[in-house]
Amino acid sequence: MVKPRPQIDQIAMYSPGKPVEELKREKGLSKIVKMASNENPFGYSPLAAEAIRTEMKEIPLYPEVTSPLLAEKLANKLGVASNQVVFGNGSDEIIRLLTRTYINEADEVVMAGVTFPRYKTNVIIEGGSPVEVEMQEGGIHDLDKMAEAINEKTKMVFVCNPNNPTGTIVEKERLKAFIEKVPSHVILVMDEAYYEYADSSQYLETLPLLDQYTNMVILRTFSKVYGLAALRVGYGLMAPEMVNDLHKVKEPFNVNRLAQAAASASLDDDEFLYESIRLNKEGREFLTKQFEAMNLSYFPTQTNFIMVDVGAPAKEVYEYLLNLGVIIRPGHLMGYPTMIRVTIGEQKDNQYFIDCLEAYLKEYRKSEKGVLKR
Ligand SMILES: Cc1ncc(COP(=O)(O)O)c(C=O)c1O
Repeated sequence: MVKPRPQIDQIAMYSPGKPVEELKREKGLSKIVKMASNENPFGYSPLAAEAIRTEMKEIPLYPEVTSPLLAEKLANKLGVASNQVVFGNGSDEIIRLLTRTYINEADEVVMAGVTFPRYKTNVIIEGGSPVEVEMQEGGIHDLDKMAEAINEKTKMVFVCNPNNPTGTIVEKERLKAFIEKVPSHVILVMDEAYYEYADSSQYLETLPLLDQYTNMVILRTFSKVYGLAALRVGYGLMAPEMVNDLHKVKEPFNVNRLAQAAASASLDDDEFLYESIRLNKEGREFLTKQFEAMNLSYFPTQTNFIMVDVGAPAKEVYEYLLNLGVIIRPGHLMGYPTMIRVTIGEQKDNQYFIDCLEAYLKEYRKSEKGVLKR
C-alpha cells in the first residue's frame, strides 16, 4: 500500500459550500438558493464577459507566465509597482505559494482560532506547526494574544481582515500596533479577500504600509466582489524580492488566458464594482434588521456574508434549510454550534432565506427535541 507523507494524514479534503448541482440531484429540487460560498450573487462585469469572448480564440496558446498586462493595470490602479504583484489560481494559490516557499519543518505559523481553513492546511502540508490563537469575544482576532504567540520559531502570521467566517474586522489602531510588533523576519500575511466590501472607518488601509513593512503580504481576489470565482484569479502584493521567490515556485501557466482577460476588463468597470457593493450593503441592512426583529444576535460584518446566532443546533438548521433548497454554512464545524454563516444574496433570496429560517425557528421553539428528530 502506498503511503503519503505523514503530514497528509493530518489533513482532510477541503469541504466547500454544497454545489447547486449536487443539491438539485439529491433533493430533486428545481429552485436552489446558494448562500454558502460568499460568491457575488449579482454576477460579473459585462466587460469581462466581452473580454472572455474575444480571448477565446487564443485558447490554443499558453497564457503569459506572470500575467504582465494584468499586473501593470492592477499596479497602476492600486498605486504600487508591477513587480510587487503575484497572480495566483485564486488567492488560494498565493497562500499555497507562500507556505511552499517559506515554511520549513517545525516552523510555527500564528493564526486566529476561527479563520480561513486553508492557512492551517497548507502549513501542515509543509510540516510546519499552525499556532491557533483563541478568538476574542465577538468573533474577532485577539491581536494581543497573537502577538504573544510569536516567538523565535515563528515564520509567518496570518491576519484575515475582514475575517472569514466571522465577517469581523480588527480595529485600526490595534492592527497598526500589531503590525509594528511583528518582527521583520516574520512574514505578515494580511488576507483581504473581502477588502472591497469593508466600509467601516475602523478598517485599516494596509496598502500605504507595504513599502515600509517589507515583510507584509496583502492578499486580494477577483472571486468575490468581481464575481469571477470560477475563473480562479487572485493576487498577492509584496516586496519585489518575495515576488521573485514566489515566481520561481509557482506553476508556469497558473492563471489561464480567460481569467487574465476577464480580470483585466473587470478593472475597467467601476460601475459594476460599486453597484455590487451598494446592493450588498442593502442586503446586509435588510438581513441585520430581520435578525434584530427575530431577536437573533449576529457578528457585525464587513463582508458579503454574515454569521448569525440562531439559538438552535446549526447542523439541524442547515439540514432543514437544505430541504427547502437554501444552502448556508453551519457553524458547528467552526466552533460556533448555534451559529450559521449566510452569504448576502439578491433581495428575493434574502427574503426567502428569512422566511425559511422563521419557519424553522417557529417549529424549533415549539419542540424541545429539535425539529428534525420529531
Ligand atoms: C478569507 C479568504 N481568503 C482566500 C479565499 C480564497 O479565494 P480565491 O482562491 O477564490 O481567491 C477565500 C475564499 O473564500 C477567503 O474567504
